[in-house]
Amino acid sequence: MTTTTKISLLLLVLAPLLMAAAGKDCPGVPWLGAVAACRKASGTKLIYNLCISTMRDYEVNMSPSHREAVTAYVINALEAATNSYEETGVAASNQIDNTSLSHQARDAFQACVGDDYLPAEHSLDHIDDALRSGCDFAGLTDACMSGMMSLERCRDRLMSLQYSDSVYSMILVDRQRVSLAYSLSKLLGI
Ligand SMILES: *[C@@H]1O[C@H](CO)[C@@H](O)[C@H](O)[C@H]1NC(C)=O
Repeated sequence: MTTTTKISLLLLVLAPLLMAAAGKDCPGVPWLGAVAACRKASGTKLIYNLCISTMRDYEVNMSPSHREAVTAYVINALEAATNSYEETGVAASNQIDNTSLSHQARDAFQACVGDDYLPAEHSLDHIDDALRSGCDFAGLTDACMSGMMSLERCRDRLMSLQYSDSVYSMILVDRQRVSLAYSLSKLLGI
């Protein structure tokens, strides 16, 4: 392995740690343990489990004695939601040229990508950047809500075609992920 490769791998491993540490100490934002934050934010076992696994993915220290500004958890959840939206967007765009599908289905995928997923990804990404670089929480709730509405529009386009496949189940995962980001953002006290 070359040194460059080693450094690249090291950066890959470290990236989630650096991201997790990016949560700023903003005025009025509570400090909580990750498990406590997940418990407070989750109305259902499903979302709680998703919260815990998301924080683990970002290498958050889950010990009850370790507290972080809630912003850090929101950033992780937003990042995970944005990645999930991106994957769904790619999967949907792969279907636009799928000649096994009807014209209506391909048009629906096209609209899902251009009208629903791209704008949603953009606003989630934008707000994620804003949280990483400072304490600007304006637009956080709106970004989550519009992300939610976007995926519902796409889901409805596919549902009206009686079209159900892996993209459809990806949309359901996006819904859980954006719900988690929204619920955690409620803990910011904004
Ligand atoms: C194209 O659509 C058909 C019908 O839904 C599906 O079975 C197939 O997997 C799709 N092809 C690709 C490459 O996703």
